[in-house]
Amino acid sequence: MIREKAGDFKFSRGLEGVSAAISSITQINGEEGVLIYRGIPIEVMAEKSSYEETSYFLIYGELPTKKELGGFTEELKEYRKLNSKEKDYITKLPKEGHPMDALKTCVSYLGMEDPPPPGEKQTIEGFLKNGKKIIAKIPSFVAAFNRVRNDKEIVPADDSLSHAGNFLWMLRGEKPSEEAEKILDLAIVLHADHGMNASTFSCYVTSSTLSDMYSTIVSGIGTLRGPLHGGANERVVAMLEEIGSPDKAEGYILNALKEHKKIMGFGHRVYKAYDPRAKILKDYAKKLSEERNLIATAIEVEEVMLGKLSDKGIYPNVDFYSGFAYKSIGIPTDFYTPIFAISRVAGWVAHAVEYRKRNRIFRPRAIYHGPINIQYTPIEERE
Ligand code: COA
Repeated sequence: MIREKAGDFKFSRGLEGVSAAISSITQINGEEGVLIYRGIPIEVMAEKSSYEETSYFLIYGELPTKKELGGFTEELKEYRKLNSKEKDYITKLPKEGHPMDALKTCVSYLGMEDPPPPGEKQTIEGFLKNGKKIIAKIPSFVAAFNRVRNDKEIVPADDSLSHAGNFLWMLRGEKPSEEAEKILDLAIVLHADHGMNASTFSCYVTSSTLSDMYSTIVSGIGTLRGPLHGGANERVVAMLEEIGSPDKAEGYILNALKEHKKIMGFGHRVYKAYDPRAKILKDYAKKLSEERNLIATAIEVEEVMLGKLSDKGIYPNVDFYSGFAYKSIGIPTDFYTPIFAISRVAGWVAHAVEYRKRNRIFRPRAIYHGPINIQYTPIEERE
């Protein structure tokens, strides 16, 4: 039996420090805490752009003209409507399931409803068209699942509303306030892309086999769900509620660190400085959120963590303060990660399309480190 030696291939645990693609979508400087979408800093996008415009920019590489943005927005509005079969399908999902599982299932269903041609026959335009359909449909699926699990009617999409506003409308069946729509729009602009993160890498791998866009996005959703990635935001709010008040923060954190527990919402593979998205969301939370006790607790947790771990490059990441934005507009906690998916899908589609233009299948190696020359013992003779 051939045994591969550790020296045969380069190895990096968790692929740390490895570049897996060349991309012109998002630039991150982790040492200085800088995030740039296609040449424009995230702070500028957060202040000036909308989710629709940001998605267009990420996908097509240039800011749209009024006409282009209008056309793109109309396309999304058309795709976001749920047909009767889709609604029927959602009503049959187990109500007690996690919304991320519902979302994964719905995107799979969408791929079966309108099956794309085999990968080698699919054009870039067709691949992208499926991507736009998914970007538009994901918020409708998430909102409809929430209605169904609460025994309420599914709310039809409203063409007069923006991407963020329509999601809130379909979720609750009431027109959102201007402020709620703005907060959600800001949060989804901030989360729309983040370079080669774990879920985007999953999308790259799936798409690189010339698989279809639906399978690509399902891979991304499955990867985003985990607590080390998009699932962290739900756990941050749960942790702050468990701590209860600022005076209990220090004891709680020191105890958790003594037990070698990870504190959710802190640390990042790339950022060794303050995550710029967390800064924007923290400012928002301090100014606007009514959850004063929870914010005071979060700020105290941050101080204790920085005192203990900032010399290791551990700072709050985007998930530490994003929950405040969602909580302030009445979104249920288990919908925080689906909202991350509602946003990140633009980045997943943009990367999949970009990579498809110069595709090469991902096929790394594993270094075999296990037994060799083992005799096969018949089952009757095994103890
Ligand atoms: N709380 C406490 N310690 C942390 C930590 C956290 N949130 N994040 C990292 N560390 C420590 C690790 O214990 C490890 O310490 P050691 O060197 O003494 O063993 C060191 O920092 C490196 O951590 P590691 O898990 O190897 O870093 P990574 O680059 O593989 O992982 C994350 C990055 C994001 C997965 C990690 O920081 C984490 O689990 N954070 C919490 C989950 C989270 O908020 N995820 C959302 C990311 S946007």
